[in-house]
Amino acid sequence: FTAEIDATDTEKGTYPHFMLKEIDEQPFVMRKIIQEYQDENDEIKLDANVRKAMLGADRIYIIAAGTSYHAGLVGKEFIEKIAQIPVEVHVASEFSYNMPLLSEKPLFIFISQSGETADSRSVLVQTKELGHPALTITNVPGSTLSREADYTLHLHAGPEIAVASTKAYTAQIAVLAILAVDTAKAKSLDFSFDPLQELAIVASVMESLTDQKETFEQIAKDFFAETRNAFFIGRSSDYNVVQEAALKLKEISYIQAEGFAGGELKHGTIALIEEGTPVIALATVGNVNLSIRGNVQEVAARGANTCIISMEGLEQEGDTFVLPHVHELLTPLVSVVPMQLLSYYAALHRDCDVDKPRNLAKSVTVE
Ligand code: G6P
Repeated sequence: FTAEIDATDTEKGTYPHFMLKEIDEQPFVMRKIIQEYQDENDEIKLDANVRKAMLGADRIYIIAAGTSYHAGLVGKEFIEKIAQIPVEVHVASEFSYNMPLLSEKPLFIFISQSGETADSRSVLVQTKELGHPALTITNVPGSTLSREADYTLHLHAGPEIAVASTKAYTAQIAVLAILAVDTAKAKSLDFSFDPLQELAIVASVMESLTDQKETFEQIAKDFFAETRNAFFIGRSSDYNVVQEAALKLKEISYIQAEGFAGGELKHGTIALIEEGTPVIALATVGNVNLSIRGNVQEVAARGANTCIISMEGLEQEGDTFVLPHVHELLTPLVSVVPMQLLSYYAALHRDCDVDKPRNLAKSVTVE
């Protein structure tokens, strides 16, 4: 048992950086979300109007930027697989001038930690003019996106101070899982997945990962101490997470990093692999386990410095780290934690300003 951290605190306490504190707060945030979204019968508690909006939609458009966009990619999988509603995920800045043909009954979901991102707001202004309903999922209920949308779901992650988003990403994914299951239940769909129970398991696994910081510090040293670039690869839902992993690394360590779909490597990116290029692979998805390992062999044969982070039940000898097992749909919640820690330690070892990286702002209120 680890003492609970007060996630509402805006002080660093004994932590050297807010980012590390916020990474550590993730198990607490998961438990807070369970508590906030659970009724007295241990069932999901969710605003009935949000449920109605979900049921009334023939297609969902998720609009977000940066890390929140990456959470949206995971959310798409949940809503399509669990609630069986088609979902499109769009980068806010692109959507506003290149709007796709909309379905007849769209529901817009804005995902935003701050609730203030101008790119997302400009889409909300447009979709409201068109008369479409909007739900904002945010960490700041009184924020612009929250006030201007029809409905809000709160992340309950507590203030996130570090520019690089960590606990808001996992909170967004957790809330999206609850939303998807709530909708599925309302549609009487057949599924066997209790998100509240599964999130409790996730919280314990997150804790076991944040307890192993030295391991990730060493991996960060081995792979990122000197390098100018790095690649993250994954297939299926791991692809969603490696995109976030690459963003984390570039944001705070200034290493040029890209997250690629394993299958796309051969279509161009593999040309960049040189002796010693770090390639970090996620292998947490059963049906693509062999294929992603094949990709690792291909890059290793061309000199890459390879690291495989796999999941219990899918591991093979020589894997750099094996994650404890969690529900298949929720693996992004745990596989991202090593990625956050790797970025943190990479930045630390390269003497970068972890909490306030150059050229970046926590909340971007200009388009
Ligand atoms: C900024 C931050 C990112 C964040 C993005 C979206 O660029 O530096 O960390 O992911 O905005 O922010 P939001 O508050 O809308 O989630």
